[in-house]
Amino acid sequence: MRTFQVRTFGCQMNKHDSERIAGVLAARGLEEAPEGEIADVIVFNTCCVRENADERLYGQVSSLSGIRRERGTVIAVGGCIGQRDGAALLRTLPQIDVVFGTHNLARLPELIDAAIDSPRPVVEVEDPSEGDFTSDLPSRREHPWHAWVPIAVGCDNFCTYCIVPYVRGRERSRTREDVVREVRGLVAEGVVEVTLLGQNVNSYGRDLYGSPAFSELLRDVAGTGIERIRFTTSHPKDLSEETIAAMASIPQVCRHLHLPLQSGSDRILKAMNRSYTQADYLALVSRLYQAIPDLALTTDVIVGFPGETEADFDETMDVVRAASYDAAFTFIYSPRAGTPAATMPGQVPRDVVQPRFARLVSEIQSSAHAKNVPLVGTVQRVLFEGTSKRDPGVLMGRTGGNKVVHVRSGADLAGRFADVLVDDAQTWFLLGSLISKDDA
Ligand code: SAH
Ligand code: SF4
Ligand code: F3S
Repeated sequence: MRTFQVRTFGCQMNKHDSERIAGVLAARGLEEAPEGEIADVIVFNTCCVRENADERLYGQVSSLSGIRRERGTVIAVGGCIGQRDGAALLRTLPQIDVVFGTHNLARLPELIDAAIDSPRPVVEVEDPSEGDFTSDLPSRREHPWHAWVPIAVGCDNFCTYCIVPYVRGRERSRTREDVVREVRGLVAEGVVEVTLLGQNVNSYGRDLYGSPAFSELLRDVAGTGIERIRFTTSHPKDLSEETIAAMASIPQVCRHLHLPLQSGSDRILKAMNRSYTQADYLALVSRLYQAIPDLALTTDVIVGFPGETEADFDETMDVVRAASYDAAFTFIYSPRAGTPAATMPGQVPRDVVQPRFARLVSEIQSSAHAKNVPLVGTVQRVLFEGTSKRDPGVLMGRTGGNKVVHVRSGADLAGRFADVLVDDAQTWFLLGSLISKDDA
C-alpha cells in the first residue's frame, strides 16, 4: 500500500485543510506513513503569511531531492504558496511533482496519479473565490474529540501587510444550517469541542444574510449538544455587542477571545487599514471585561510595520499593558510582495525592530503570569488532551480560557473533562490536582 505524509505550515484553517487532505488520500486507499518513515507521497500544506514559511518550504523540498530520485517519492505542494505561485513554483523548485491550490484539495488523488503517469509536473490552481467548502470532504481529525469547523473562507479586509485576501479570495460564509448540520454530525461521532474558523468570524453571514449573524450562529451551535465552542479570529472593528452578550450568556462558549491588536498607534493602524483607533480598541476591551470579568484575552501584534517610530511602538506597549493579555502571538513585520505595505516608505531595519520586539515579548510574559496568578485556588473545568510530552506521568489539558494545565495522574483522560483545583501558576501553564472526572 502507498503511504503519505502531510506537513502543515500555516494557521488553523490550514491545519483543517491538512485533515481534509489526509481524509481524501485515505479514502483513496493511501495509508499515513508511520512516524520516522519516508512516505511515498509527501504533501506540503504551505503558508505565505510571513517570509519564514516560504523559506521553510524551500529548505524542506530541496533536502528531499535525493530521496525523490532514489525512491520515486512524489512531492506535492498545496496551500497558500501553491495558490500564490502556481506553476511559477517549479522554476525555483523543479523537484515538485504536483502544485495544487487552496480550493483543489478534492482533486489531489487524481493529480498525484497524473504526476506518476507523466514525466512532467501537474499544476492545478483555481480562483480562490470559486469552488466548494472543504468541509464536504472526508476528514482525518488529529484528535477524535476536537474538530475545526470553517464557517467562512476568504477575507475582505485587505489589511495592507497581509497576503491572505489574495490567496484565499473574498469572504464567503457557509449557511447556518450547513454549519449546524456538520456540528450535529460531529457530536454524534463523539466530538466535544469545536473551533469555528474564519479570517474574521465577526462578519460571518454578511454575504448571505445582509448583516453579520455570528451571535445567532453561536446560539445555533450551542443547541447541537456540543460541550465547548471556540472560535477564531475576531476583527475588532466587527465585534458586536450581541456577540459579547452571547459569549457572556452561552455556557458552551469558552470565555476566551483572540482579538488581534496589530498596533496601538492610530497612525500605524490607519496605514494598516485596520479601521479602528487605539481608543476604539481599549473601549471594546473594557466592555468585554465588564461583560465577562474572567475573560481570557489574547492577541496578535506586529512590530516594525513601515514607518513605525519609537513613539508609535510606545503606544502599542501602552495598549498591551492596559489590555491585560493572557497570551499573544508577536510578529516582526515581514514584507509580502503584492501587498501595499511592501512598497511603503520607511521600512524599519532589523536592528531597530529587534529591541522593540524583545520589550514586547517581555511585557506579554509579565501580563500572562499576572493573569494566571489569580487562578490559583480556583476550580477549572479542563478538557484533557493526553499526557505531557516531557513526563508521561503528567496529564495535559486546557481550561475554557485555553490555558494549559498540568496534573500529576496516571489516569487516561484524553478527550474527557475533569474539574481541577489550580495549585500553582506559571507564565504559560497552570499546575493543578484532579478533584473529579466526568464519567462521559
Ligand atoms: N485573519 C486573522 C489572521 C491573519 S494572519 C486576523 O485578522 O487576525 C495571522 C497574523 O499574522 C495576523 O494577525 C498578523 O498579526 C500576522 N501577519 C499577517 N501578515 C503579516 C506580515 N506581513 N508580517 C508580519 N505579520 C503578519
Ligand atoms: Fe489578513 Fe486583515 Fe484579513 Fe486578517 S483581517 S486575514 S490580517 S487582511
Ligand atoms: Fe493561513 Fe498562512 Fe494561508 S496564515 S490562510 S496558511 S497564508
